[in-house]
Amino acid sequence: MIPLLSKFQPRWRSLPFRPPPAGATVAPKVRLSTAPPEPVIPSKKPIKVELVGGKRYAWCSCGHSRKQPFCDGSHKTRAQGMTPLRFVPEKDSTVWLCGCKHTSSPPYCDGTHKQDFIVSAPLHEHAD
Ligand code: FES
Repeated sequence: MIPLLSKFQPRWRSLPFRPPPAGATVAPKVRLSTAPPEPVIPSKKPIKVELVGGKRYAWCSCGHSRKQPFCDGSHKTRAQGMTPLRFVPEKDSTVWLCGCKHTSSPPYCDGTHKQDFIVSAPLHEHAD
């Protein structure tokens, strides 16, 4: 046995549980899950946009943005851990960007919005 551990182990075992004193401030709830956050569904259809070649875009991946399909920074407060997908198209083009946020080829629509789990899911509505 390691002498240092045997010196401290009895103290750890004997620590009694003490409930917080009456009137103590309760700690805020903490998100304990390690699972990645899931996006909300702002639209069940793709969004047609005209992109300018060489321009930088940030596609909203969390679904909370009010500027769909692009990011407005809402993920910083409403979907911490999620970030927008930044991309630069090579040339001017008209494309269909995913509005359901569940595509397998972001930022583009791949038809996932037609699947039952999207069709039957509730649309996200802004609280304020
Ligand atoms: S809108 Fe998301 S896959 Fe089509």
